[in-house]
Amino acid sequence: MIFLMDLQMMLLDVIYFILRNSVRIVLRPRTKPIDGELVLITGAGGGLGRLFAQEFTKHGAEVVLWDINSSCNDETAKLVHENGGKAYTYTVDVTNREDVYRNADLVRKDLGRDITILVNNAGVVAGARMLDCPDLLMERTMKVNCHAHFWTVKAFLPQMKAQNHGHIVTIASVLGLFSTACVEDYCASKFAAVGFHESLAHELIADEVEGVKTTLVCPYIVDTGMFEGCKIREEVELLLPPWSPSTAWSRP
Ligand SMILES: NC(=O)c1ccc[n+]([C@@H]2O[C@H](COP(=O)([O-])OP(=O)(O)OC[C@H]3O[C@@H](n4cnc5c(N)ncnc54)[C@H](O)[C@@H]3O)[C@@H](O)[C@H]2O)c1
Ligand SMILES: *[C@@H]1O[C@H](CO)[C@@H](O)[C@H](O)[C@H]1NC(C)=O
Repeated sequence: MIFLMDLQMMLLDVIYFILRNSVRIVLRPRTKPIDGELVLITGAGGGLGRLFAQEFTKHGAEVVLWDINSSCNDETAKLVHENGGKAYTYTVDVTNREDVYRNADLVRKDLGRDITILVNNAGVVAGARMLDCPDLLMERTMKVNCHAHFWTVKAFLPQMKAQNHGHIVTIASVLGLFSTACVEDYCASKFAAVGFHESLAHELIADEVEGVKTTLVCPYIVDTGMFEGCKIREEVELLLPPWSPSTAWSRP
């Protein structure tokens, strides 16, 4: 009986989302203007983080770039500057909460204003089968892909709530919704990130903080090098090939 009710609810959900998204193909949802916003992107030296930085600045926002690797972070800033955008770089290990809090204070002091959009994008994968995977790599995946969201949100949400203006973006993955073989660490961390996002969104609604929004992004495999060496099952690959970074961007 419960099974039948669950099935019925799921079918209703599926029908609702198919209908809603079909309508949205024609009537595109209103996009949020972001000019004048101050956007902090973690993992900004990487494939998607760099694209986010370029895209945000193209639409009039300024970006604060956080990455553990200063050389690739500087490269992102250079690309933004070349296109007339404003970018400020900080070398931060997002798994280190003291480092996160210290740099959050530093950003506020340096720029004299609050971060209004936080994009939790930094992510890693161990890339080994469960029993071959070094403990430290598994732990690192949880720390970067999940725990870091706690520290950055703790650092920036108070200002957003005080202004009743802000946005927290969680870059998870389809592997936060479905799983596959040999990415145990990654799936655990991305399911965690999805749960974190959902609970935070509920909390903001419960607290009636209307000006602070949340967005969850669950990209499919994007060809940035992160999943280099991974194989998608052939029949799946035919149907759903990996996206190039630029197509990933043009998807709504
Ligand atoms: N590429 C994909 O196929 C794909 C698919 C779905 C989701 N994602 C997610 O998108 C996000 C970005 O992925 P990407 O492909 O651009 O990865 P990437 O490896 O190209 O870049 C990740 C960046 O994060 C930085 N980083 C790693 N650990 C850090 C730490 N402790 N502190 C600060 N910075 C750190 C790295 O230096 C790097 O610049 C990740 O969260 C990833 O899980 C990627
Ligand atoms: C930082 O990134 C650069 C360029 O992507 C890479 O060559 C270098 O090995 C990275 N450094 C570290 C410490 O990971």
